[in-house]
Amino acid sequence: MAVLPGHPTLVPVLRDSRLWPGGAGVTALKTMTSRDVINMRALVVYESMYGNTHAIATDIAAGLRETHEVIVVPVAMATADLVAGADLLVVGGPTHMHGLSTASSRELAAKSAAKTGSGLMLEPDVAGPGLRDWLNGLADRHAALAAAFDTRLTGIPALTGRASHGIRKLLMRHGYFLIAPAESFLVSQRNSVIDGEASRARHWGTLLGAAACVAHVPAGT
Ligand SMILES: Cc1cc2nc3c(=O)[nH]c(=O)nc-3n(C[C@H](O)[C@H](O)[C@H](O)COP(=O)(O)O)c2cc1C
Repeated sequence: MAVLPGHPTLVPVLRDSRLWPGGAGVTALKTMTSRDVINMRALVVYESMYGNTHAIATDIAAGLRETHEVIVVPVAMATADLVAGADLLVVGGPTHMHGLSTASSRELAAKSAAKTGSGLMLEPDVAGPGLRDWLNGLADRHAALAAAFDTRLTGIPALTGRASHGIRKLLMRHGYFLIAPAESFLVSQRNSVIDGEASRARHWGTLLGAAACVAHVPAGT
C-alpha cells in the first residue's frame, strides 16, 4: 500500500520523477484517499551459496510486506518480466573475495561445501547465473527504485570488502535510483548469521518500504 504505516493520510508526492536524483522532487503534499491507495510491488533478488543471503533476503521481505506485495527469488528465477513489474528492486549477494562473486569464487565455495565434514549445505539454485552477470544484463530503467545489500564476515569493511558496493554501482549504471545506502548483514566465521542481524534485516526492509512509498510516483500525477 502506498500509505506509510502510522502516517495514513498525508504523504509527499513526487510530481516530476526527473527531479528525484537532484533531491528536489518533493513538490506537494497530497491528502490520500482510499482511491489513491495502490498496491506497490517489491522484488527481492538474491544470490546465495550457503543460505545466509537467502535467509537475510527473506527477513528483508518480511519488513517490506508492511507496505508492499513482495516476491523473493534467487537470481536464476529473476526474469525480466518480474523486474519490469516491480516498483522497488532489492538485490543482494554474498561477499566473495572482497566483492561480488565470480564463477571461480562460486566454484571454490562449492568445493568447500563438498569437503567431508564441512557442515555446509549448498542452496538448490547455485548452478544458475551469478549476480554479476545478471546485473550486467539488466534492462535500463530510468530512476526506477532500488536498494543493494550483501552478507559478509564481521570486521572492518575495508578489510572484508562488500559485495553491495558492486551491486549498487551496477544498478546505478542501469539507471536505477538507490533509495538507501548499500547495507551489509554480518555472518560469523562459522558461517551463520550473527545474532540480531535477522531483525535488523527485517527493520531495514520496513524502512525501504516506507522510503519507496514516499519516492513512488503515482500514475497520473
Ligand atoms: C569463496 C568465498 C570467498 C569469500 N570472501 C569473503 C570476503 O572477501 N569477505 C567477507 O567478508 N566474506 C567472504 N566470504 C564469506 C561470505 O561472504 C559469507 O559466508 C556469506 O554470508 C555467504 O553467503 P551465502 O551463505 O548466502 O552464500 C567468502 C566466502 C566464500 C565461500
